[in-house]
Amino acid sequence: MTGRKWISCGVLVAFLVAVGGFMAIAAEKAPDTVDFKTPVWPTPTKGNVAFTHKKHSEEYKVACNQCHHVMKDGKNVWKEGDAVERCDKCHTEATIQGEKKLPPDQQKLNLKLAFHNQCIPCHQKEKKAKADTKAPVTCAQCHPGSKAE
Ligand code: HEC
Ligand code: HEC
Ligand code: HEC
Ligand code: HEC
Repeated sequence: MTGRKWISCGVLVAFLVAVGGFMAIAAEKAPDTVDFKTPVWPTPTKGNVAFTHKKHSEEYKVACNQCHHVMKDGKNVWKEGDAVERCDKCHTEATIQGEKKLPPDQQKLNLKLAFHNQCIPCHQKEKKAKADTKAPVTCAQCHPGSKAE
């Protein structure tokens, strides 16, 4: 009788530990800023991008899943609360010069294009709508200290 109770108690504890572990992953909140450091570019040539991560979701109202995705059959199945993988987990193609001349399947996995194609089109749209927008569109605005190209 009591033996049984102890077993179900153990099961309950195991369950709670599992739930706790799950919540630790599920509770990944948007950090204020992000560190772009990546083994794909051990020494960045431009870098230095100051990205106001939290501000983008809270103030600029960009949905998490507009930037974070897990693609399945051409659709984004990532939803808020899911674990967030770094871009370089999947975008592993490392070319940083002439990347637009890569074959299309490699372009999709190029890391530089992943960042640029995510950030720049939205800022260009902003600029079209509002000429005095703070959204940066030139190289030097995003990569301070580097030459405008
Ligand atoms: C809207 C912001 C934005 C604009 C505009 C932009 N970049 Fe970037 N760029 C990024 C981000 C974000 C990364 C990836 C993170 C990092 O490396 O800091 C990146 C990465 C890079 C990289 C690869 C990493 C490195 O430093 O070697 C190069 C090269 C680069 N950009 C060059 C350019 C050039 C040239 C232009 C202009 C034609 C440009 N970028 C415009 C945001 C921008
Ligand atoms: C405008 C685009 C954008 C929006 C909106 C956005 N993120 Fe991010 N997030 C990024 C980028 C870019 C990174 C850096 C990833 C990298 O360097 O590989 C990042 C990193 C993260 C990280 C850290 C990942 C790690 O392991 O370092 C977490 C957690 C995260 N985002 C969660 C969220 C959540 C939750 C939301 C919505 C509330 C959100 N993000 C909204 C673009 C965005
Ligand atoms: C779990 C893997 C995975 C992660 C993590 C991931 N991506 Fe992607 N991403 C993909 C795949 C696969 C595609 C190609 C989908 C298709 O076939 O059209 C893609 C497509 C894209 C595209 C459109 C293709 C292009 O270059 O125009 C952009 C932009 C992009 N990702 C940016 C990012 C950024 C920025 C991050 C990090 C915040 C990120 N991705 C994280 C797998 C991933
Ligand atoms: C879906 C739209 C969208 C995407 C995607 C996006 N941004 Fe922005 N960004 C904005 C808007 C809106 C503003 C603010 C414009 C204003 O205040 O006038 C902004 C402003 C900025 C600013 C200047 C103001 C500040 O908060 O520091 C930087 C730097 C910036 N974005 C970097 C990035 C980078 C880097 C990425 C890609 C990782 C990115 N953004 C992706 C919409 C976007």
